[in-house]
Amino acid sequence: MELISTVAQLRARLSAEASVAFVPTMGNLHQGHLDLMHQARRYGRCVVASIFVNPLQFGPNEDFDQYPRTLDDDCEKLRGLVDVVFAPGVNEMYPASQTVFVAPPPIASELCGAARPGHFQGMATVVCKLLNIVQPQVALFGKKDYQQLHIIRQLVAQLNMPVEIIGGETVRAIDGLALSSRNQYLSEAERAEAVFLNQTLRSMREQLLSGARDFGILEQEAIRALTARGWSVDYVAIRNQSDLKRACAGDQYLVVLAAARLGKTRLLDNIEVNLHA
Ligand code: PAF
Repeated sequence: MELISTVAQLRARLSAEASVAFVPTMGNLHQGHLDLMHQARRYGRCVVASIFVNPLQFGPNEDFDQYPRTLDDDCEKLRGLVDVVFAPGVNEMYPASQTVFVAPPPIASELCGAARPGHFQGMATVVCKLLNIVQPQVALFGKKDYQQLHIIRQLVAQLNMPVEIIGGETVRAIDGLALSSRNQYLSEAERAEAVFLNQTLRSMREQLLSGARDFGILEQEAIRALTARGWSVDYVAIRNQSDLKRACAGDQYLVVLAAARLGKTRLLDNIEVNLHA
């Protein structure tokens, strides 16, 4: 496994590779990331992981400075799983102030975008840069960040980028909590409570499968239940899987998405619900 920190060295290393599969990350790797790396091996003879905490996708009051940076540990975890780790510094990715941005589609101002203005523009810009730098045939992203994955699919399709995007299933702790680098911010009591987010989504899924169709009421009940236990809820929303627009009567392929804070930690989760027979 090679650790490379400059664009020029990475391009030289990959120039002779016929098939590259790429997993972009912000590091502090957990099993969810490692599963994506395993999966990547099916798609490329050369597997590249990137580790870059992208300042453009953090708001001024967000956790960019605190975000855990654990490059040595991450490289240990990646040994034997990937061929190349690309870990550029901020100056390598943004040698001059970035004045060209990718404007994400309108859905980027809803759901997570409503609470994190500018986040998806920063994310889409760095993903576009990384895909241009690595030029993989396939890139893999986790479905835990469902809206992010949707926006990346739109970005690649609408800008005719020659890369196939694969979504990896969310990896969970035994109690159901979706793995996330931010889980380590949770206190012991918060960690015990955190599972309630997934339980809430699972209960909504059961109600939908049992025939409940008043989506607004289901959302409001979930928000009330979370709030009563001390969560600060950004959203609980029932949307269509294909375009993330609000679900309407008759829609069959749904996803229930939620983002809520426990103390200072913002947690995300989602669950797909297929209502066809
Ligand atoms: O999901 C992440 O870790 C990041 O948003 C990504 C896709 C690596 C872009 O910085």
